[in-house]
Amino acid sequence: MPRQLIGIDVGGSSIKAGLVDLDAGRLVGDLKSAPTPQPSTPAAMLAVFQQLVGRFPGSQGRVGIAMPSVVKHGKVLTAANIDHGWIGVDGPALVERPLGRNAIFLNDADAAGVAEVKWGAGKGTQGTVIMLTFGTGIGTAFFVDGILLPNSELGHMELKGREAEKWTSAAVRTAEKLDWPAWIERVNVYLEQLYALFWPDLFILGGAVSERFDEFAPLLRSQAQIKPAAFAGQAGVIGAALAAADS
Ligand code: BGC
Repeated sequence: MPRQLIGIDVGGSSIKAGLVDLDAGRLVGDLKSAPTPQPSTPAAMLAVFQQLVGRFPGSQGRVGIAMPSVVKHGKVLTAANIDHGWIGVDGPALVERPLGRNAIFLNDADAAGVAEVKWGAGKGTQGTVIMLTFGTGIGTAFFVDGILLPNSELGHMELKGREAEKWTSAAVRTAEKLDWPAWIERVNVYLEQLYALFWPDLFILGGAVSERFDEFAPLLRSQAQIKPAAFAGQAGVIGAALAAADS
């Protein structure tokens, strides 16, 4: 019987869930998703988690939940792009009884990075790896020799007098109708700043835009190697399940 657990990835616009084969390092079947409720209060989100978990009949075991937040010891500590009612919520205490399962909570970019470093674009890379997820915000995951430094939050780094994610996230690209050259110009400034501070060996670019990596890759510039996320928009779900298995 293959080891399989559910991973859930909470984004600013949708919540995705998948059953992950922990031996093969891939999804079993399709991702299921639902719009992120607005407002995205803990109670409203819990109802979506219940509905999504119910779409995997017969599945068992812990569930891993990736949040767009700093998460320490299960507690959600920030809420940049979700309802502020999440701040201070103990994730497992909120969901375990209604879901009838144990749960582990972690940051969404950390989850995506865990999947990429174990099975994807960062597999086998020694040294410093920074995973970046471009979505409603910018998530970051920081690894040294495969070990995660959790909650790095480099999307909030100051860039050109403002937060990086308010200038170069995927949502900003859409809102400002930036074409690839205009957006990548901003991404390059961000990568340059990150490189000057951390000297990474590899940047992994994730989020839905990574599926279009070939269209903008020639415009990217960095002294570090740059690779697209192998799991693209699935990385958070896969990494959440992996974290649940390892916890
Ligand atoms: C949050 C991070 C999150 C990222 C991507 C940021 O606004 O502060 O915790 O990883 O968005 O969702």
